Amino acid sequence: MKLNVVTHNPGKVKEYQSALGEYGLEMVHVNREYDEVQTPYLEEVVDKGIKQLSKEGLTDFMIDDSGLFVNALKGFPGVYSAYGQKTIGNKGILKLMGGVEDRSAVFKCCIGCRIGDQTVIVTGNCPGYITYEERGTEGFGYDPIFTPNGSLSFAEIPLEEKNVISHRGVALRLLIDELKNRNII
Ligand code: IMP
Repeated sequence: MKLNVVTHNPGKVKEYQSALGEYGLEMVHVNREYDEVQTPYLEEVVDKGIKQLSKEGLTDFMIDDSGLFVNALKGFPGVYSAYGQKTIGNKGILKLMGGVEDRSAVFKCCIGCRIGDQTVIVTGNCPGYITYEERGTEGFGYDPIFTPNGSLSFAEIPLEEKNVISHRGVALRLLIDELKNRNII
């Protein structure tokens, strides 16, 4: 079955293909816009996105939204993570966290699928901590300032290892379980 992946990022299409290909799903990249509603919840962004794209006539598709939620910053940058990365960046987050003892944070990834007349929305979490300085050269975005266990940052571990524990990896496994439960795959 063909599944349209609505994203501007071709890297995501590859990642989904490698996780879902063995279940007979063939990813098709659809580079198309949908509105991202103003809400603190990724699930709401994804739910509204699915409804909009369905209304516009798109069928059999998936979308996702992810972000880094820092507890001491009341969840910032959260749903604004892409904007936060472009504006204040990792240095800006570290500055905001200067002198802050509670370093806890969580990476979240929400994936939504509309297949036939069924909607599946799952969220994967990866809890961890904000580091005191940028570390490592792997990965992207907030990887150099996030550590899942208080030692190495996401930018200091190989991608395959990150995928096992990351918010996206967790969300993908939840998605596969739910699609299996519903006999979609
Ligand atoms: P998106 O919704 O997957 O495009 O993610 C939004 C933003 O969250 C990205 O632009 C990154 O700044 C950040 N982000 C999401 N996932 C990760 C990750 O695994 N590592 C680092 N930053 C991430």
